[in-house]
Amino acid sequence: MTVATEDMTPLNDALAARFAAAQDIAEEAGALALDYFRRRRDLTIEIKGGLQDVVSIADKNVETLIRDRLHTSFPEDGILGEEHGVDQGSSGFTWVVDPIDGTSAFVHGLPSWCVSIALLSGSDLVMGVIRVPCGDESFAAVKGGGATLNGEALRLDSSKTLQNSLTGIGANNAVPPEMIGALITGLMARGGNYIRTGSGAQMLALVAAGRLAGFYEPSMHAWDCLAGYCLVSEAGGSYRPFPVEGAAILEGGPVLAAGPGAFEELSALASESERLLNS
Ligand code: IPD
Ligand code: CA
Ligand code: CA
Repeated sequence: MTVATEDMTPLNDALAARFAAAQDIAEEAGALALDYFRRRRDLTIEIKGGLQDVVSIADKNVETLIRDRLHTSFPEDGILGEEHGVDQGSSGFTWVVDPIDGTSAFVHGLPSWCVSIALLSGSDLVMGVIRVPCGDESFAAVKGGGATLNGEALRLDSSKTLQNSLTGIGANNAVPPEMIGALITGLMARGGNYIRTGSGAQMLALVAAGRLAGFYEPSMHAWDCLAGYCLVSEAGGSYRPFPVEGAAILEGGPVLAAGPGAFEELSALASESERLLNS
């Protein structure tokens, strides 16, 4: 494993150890999730926020595995996971974990779900790892070290625009449907088109890989977006800041990221739909 940081200061040593571990853990967690996916007909699906917001023992046990591994290797780190909440740490590092992002896709037998692991140093986003087991794809980024897909460097340029590429639009039932309608209308009126795979984290990884021009969802949580944000940023794209300080990290907010050819226009489109909602 190589981390492309120039000097190995103590922080970088700490980061290098965590980067290697996160990639191994994401792969192991992905394998466990894939095993559940293949046996998904046996899973009991629990309703969280409604029929469109579900969870199963797969989500819970995959998160338990990730937490156990992280806790064994880095007992002083904090962990925030979607299914099992917050463990405070004392090292200054906090892991932010979504064991299965795209649970709806997962339970319905669609392959577009992933394991997402991010790391904060204080409130600084320093790492993102996303494992997509069905595509056998591992995305990884560490601050200042670039982003990779299966070990190959990812580098975004300005060639992808809203007009010549697809844009990921996320939606959950916490957002007024009119807002999603306005977003899609605005995107298509600009000559673009949209896609929703069912996993916001995976769509952010697809932005980092240059397969999508950008991604926007009006309301998501930290565990949905932080790993993908790190990937996009390290690949040369931009993202709209997300609150991670104190209790704000639990609240969530809008998530937007794009490559250099689409960021401004997607931001303008998102702002238009947000103004519409607030008017
Ligand atoms: C969800 C997915 C979905 C997005 C939702 C998220 P989950 O996460 O990322 O694409 O639209 O807002 O909550 O529940 O599958 O982990
Ligand atoms: Ca999620
Ligand atoms: Ca999840």
